[in-house]
Amino acid sequence: MKNYFSSQVLRKIVAVSVLAMPVTVAVAQTKSGDTKMDSFVSGLMTKMTLDEKIGQLNLVTSGRALTGSVVNKGVEESIKKGNIGGIFGVYGTDYISKAQDLAVKNSRLHIPLIFGLDVIHGHRTIFPIPLGMSATWDMGLIERSAKIAASEATGEGINWVFSPMVDIARDPRWGRISEGSGEDPYLGSQIAKAMVKGYQGTSMKNSDAVMACVKHFALYGGAEAGREYNTVDMSLIKMYQDYLPPYKAAVDAGAGSFMSSFNTINGVPATANQWLLTDVLRKQWGFKGFVVSDYTAVSELTAHGLGDLQTVSALALKAGLDMDMVAEGFLTTLKKSLKEGKVTQQEIDLACRRVLEAKYKLGLFDNPYKSINADVESKTELTETNRLAARETAEHSFVLLKNQGQILPLKKSGNIALIGPLADNHSEMLGTWVIAGDPNKSVSVIDGIKKVVGSNANILYARGSNFTDDSLLNARAWFFGMKQIRDTRPAQEMIDEAVETAKKADVVVAVVGESANMTGESASRSDINIPETQRDLLKALFKTGKPIVLVLFNGRPLTLTWENEHANAILDVWAPGTEAGNAVADVLFGNYNPAGKITATFPKNVGQVPIYYNHKNTGRPFDDKGPAKFKSDYIDVSNAPLFPFGYGLSYTTFNYSDVKLSKASLKGNETLTATVTVSNTGKLAGEEVVQLYVSDPVASISRSVKELKNFKKIMLQPGEQKEVSFNISTQDLKFYNTRLNYDWEPGQFIVEIGTNSSDVHSASVQWEK
Ligand code: BGC
Repeated sequence: MKNYFSSQVLRKIVAVSVLAMPVTVAVAQTKSGDTKMDSFVSGLMTKMTLDEKIGQLNLVTSGRALTGSVVNKGVEESIKKGNIGGIFGVYGTDYISKAQDLAVKNSRLHIPLIFGLDVIHGHRTIFPIPLGMSATWDMGLIERSAKIAASEATGEGINWVFSPMVDIARDPRWGRISEGSGEDPYLGSQIAKAMVKGYQGTSMKNSDAVMACVKHFALYGGAEAGREYNTVDMSLIKMYQDYLPPYKAAVDAGAGSFMSSFNTINGVPATANQWLLTDVLRKQWGFKGFVVSDYTAVSELTAHGLGDLQTVSALALKAGLDMDMVAEGFLTTLKKSLKEGKVTQQEIDLACRRVLEAKYKLGLFDNPYKSINADVESKTELTETNRLAARETAEHSFVLLKNQGQILPLKKSGNIALIGPLADNHSEMLGTWVIAGDPNKSVSVIDGIKKVVGSNANILYARGSNFTDDSLLNARAWFFGMKQIRDTRPAQEMIDEAVETAKKADVVVAVVGESANMTGESASRSDINIPETQRDLLKALFKTGKPIVLVLFNGRPLTLTWENEHANAILDVWAPGTEAGNAVADVLFGNYNPAGKITATFPKNVGQVPIYYNHKNTGRPFDDKGPAKFKSDYIDVSNAPLFPFGYGLSYTTFNYSDVKLSKASLKGNETLTATVTVSNTGKLAGEEVVQLYVSDPVASISRSVKELKNFKKIMLQPGEQKEVSFNISTQDLKFYNTRLNYDWEPGQFIVEIGTNSSDVHSASVQWEK
């Protein structure tokens, strides 16, 4: 590859910098372990003026893809002046190559820009939303989705993606639960690693690799009452045990950058939190990359009550923040703060070095345009191979929540009524956080079904209802330029038409749920039912007495108690992405047997929230067995969820044997093997996610009732059985104690293996030091 920076530009830099006589200050030396990179960056920094260094810390958006309400002005001039380190929210070879031209041809030091984008679940080929993707429990599929997203994005010059989002969430009211991997720290950690690997590949210099930006650091998913951007107050044990592991796993996987979160953590906003950004992230975990703020999070520190823009910018820099997204607090105040002794030259240098190192690691100094290529853009995006991968991933993400009388898979014959606001729709197939995906290229459910059944069955269609007729929800879910396709007919007229259609059918497939805009950022809900209008439609359909299959679109666990009582089957398809309709049809008609398992607990009602499987026992545990007085419970609902973590059915059935342990008692660092035999007792081949949980009933602190420690996805033919074994070491017994020591304590442990977190077989073991 041509060494663009060193061959052409470096000579110019040397020449220009002599003329411009930059204020040369001692550059803080850090040892990254890469001596070539260290000396390159140090060499470059000796030529940089203070303004140019601060410029590197400035990340702007010029408004092509709006992900916030503030947009930077005068971007072109700022690039030429060296006042910008990177641009985000842009895509397309045209824009990016022009912007890069400005930086490498027209700025004094020709330092390339870094281009970031919210590539969250695919770039042009859209995969299921992350919560859906996590339901695959399939790290191979997840890693491949990130790799495909990276290859599509790099073709357009994007070299930095604001993903993975690894925030643990136990509250489905929070709209952004859709962007993460659910409630479990172990599964979340495996997914964090798979995503980082998929994006960054073996080297970020590779033409199809991008730098990952792990977000939102930290604990954003712990927001009070699921309210967006809200406060987090949490014990250190809970943080370390349940919320921080996926971020740490991403560091261990070599993630190049992190994004600080909007929330406060025990009083101190994450973006100005030195303990978090420096002590935990860098000193405890050894993170070597750079930290960018979230959108205007630096200036928002003022609303948090930390002071004016100058004060908060200095606080953020000192805390360990390296790049300021959109707020321009660093750009406009750090020089003054340096003069006034509020920040040091070393602090500015360190942040600048980290940003330059990221560009170096991406190979941008060798080739600022990297793989940008209009040809690549058209040849590698939304290809048949990528579409097939998206279809396969979507199928694996679907969760069969109910299948009474084995109504599914449907036969490809007879009259099938397809009803609901999501049945004939392209725009909602992709889900939340889709910047460059084209909804018009997505497959609607009706198109997918027609293709899969061909002329064997007769498909009848009625829309049945709009998403919602609630004026507040309508106004708040669709704003900021977002469009809703509404049917202008009165609600009753639409329902009547749907009922007439249903009457003509052998079976009704109701495609209902949340639109993309009802989930994601700034889309928290206090009511997590299917919206009332759609409920009314379902009630009318149930009255026809026809068998009803719900195909549910959702970006969060919904409260489905009523639907679960009435529908014959429920297939949860989240927001499946570009190949939505094909994947839904494949599963409905049995071309693929669903094996997804939910990764966030579905409550019976919203009052049970927050609800999660790895809760504490309490002194008065509720067990649903006897009278409930004086127990830790409610008097109007049991503590049990509607669907527990790890739950999901198949078109076939599986039987689990008892758990066999290799030893009844162990000592020290011995390894225990736990084995079950899983048999396919049904008539179809199918996959099953076999889950291992461990509980620690006696310890120096009150432990969670159980914790997921491992899982294996297996395939079984009808009648086939397989032994599934898990090795358990003392590593799996460790927890954070009151001193935050991560260690295990001897005694009894319960090993549980099963099909979901509630339905397990268990065995007890004694483990001494
Ligand atoms: C979101 C981030 C996103 C950023 C840039 C923010 O509002 O919280 O997740 O990466 O915008 O678009």
